Amino acid sequence: MKGLILAGGAGTRLRPITYTSAKQLVPVANTPILFYGLQSMVDAGITDIGIIVGDTAAEVMTAVGDGARWGARVTYIPQDAPLGLAHCVLIAREFLGADDFVMYLGDNLLEQDLNTFVAAFTGQSERPAAQILLKAVPDPQRFGVAELDASGHVVRLVEKPAEPPSDLALVGVYLFDPTIHEAVRAIEPSARGELEITDAIQWLVENGRRVQSQLLTGWWIDTGKLTPLLEANRLLLERISPRLEGTIDDASSIDGRVVLERGARVVRSQIRGPVVIGAGSAIVDSYIGPHTAVGNNCTIEHSEIEHSVLLEGVRVSGVPRLQDSLLGREAVVTRTHAKPSALRLMVGDHSQIDVE
Ligand code: G1P
Repeated sequence: MKGLILAGGAGTRLRPITYTSAKQLVPVANTPILFYGLQSMVDAGITDIGIIVGDTAAEVMTAVGDGARWGARVTYIPQDAPLGLAHCVLIAREFLGADDFVMYLGDNLLEQDLNTFVAAFTGQSERPAAQILLKAVPDPQRFGVAELDASGHVVRLVEKPAEPPSDLALVGVYLFDPTIHEAVRAIEPSARGELEITDAIQWLVENGRRVQSQLLTGWWIDTGKLTPLLEANRLLLERISPRLEGTIDDASSIDGRVVLERGARVVRSQIRGPVVIGAGSAIVDSYIGPHTAVGNNCTIEHSEIEHSVLLEGVRVSGVPRLQDSLLGREAVVTRTHAKPSALRLMVGDHSQIDVE
């Protein structure tokens, strides 16, 4: 079995961060989102992995390399334009060959590992053509939605329906046998101009192929926007193993699950986990509260931060309270006492600032 990870999308809902960084490489708990999917594939025994890359190809390729770090062999498949998830299958035809494969959307995060999902498929003597993962959600119109019959068989799949036939959303992890190649060639682009994988699976259903579904246990987050990204950061920080490799002075205290990477310094500060603090960062006269991930080489002085993600090289100084925030690389947030008292901003396109 092979793996196909989709890391081509533009990430417009995470601008301005995604002007300079791929959305799949935004870190949660200081690890790029994409790495979690890659790891769970390898954990399920899938090591021959194709990654679909788009405009941010160079960055993704630099971050992942040849996959050896995970014990995987990675093949990059360039997509010229974001023409849909089924289009990704179309252009991966040569890489996929005659193998079954797991397709994983690079911005999705799952609590559950892939083992049970893969085992449910491979364990059958008569395999279905596709296996999908479903999760009940409060806002199904934002996703692909499945309609099941009384015995749990997939009857119909529809992409982002205005009137959803159920609350069962399609999670961004799919299992296919080679029949899907016929399906992606048969469908037409949707109203948003994309070849939808949902339509390709619906084609399988209409053509009498068996599509099996599994209900996802545990959480699932499509991280494409700020609020779910912070939520994913919170959930993944809950799972970290504490490790203190940096230095902590006597005037500081550390409570709960905290990772302090090598070369990080905590001076006259309080850290209340779960928190990760990246290598070379300095926390001085500050409080870092639960569910915060501080990237490498950040400086936090005279500030309090909670429930936030700070990328590499951020500087925060004199800010009494910062929370629910995502700060991009090298961002600077400072409080000065210069007169007149005012907010002074240099803010990138599509930034979002909430003032108290
Ligand atoms: C895509 C799929 C959708 C699925 C979702 C999961 O949506 O088209 O069926 O439910 O991923 O994250 P998109 O992210 O392209 O809006």
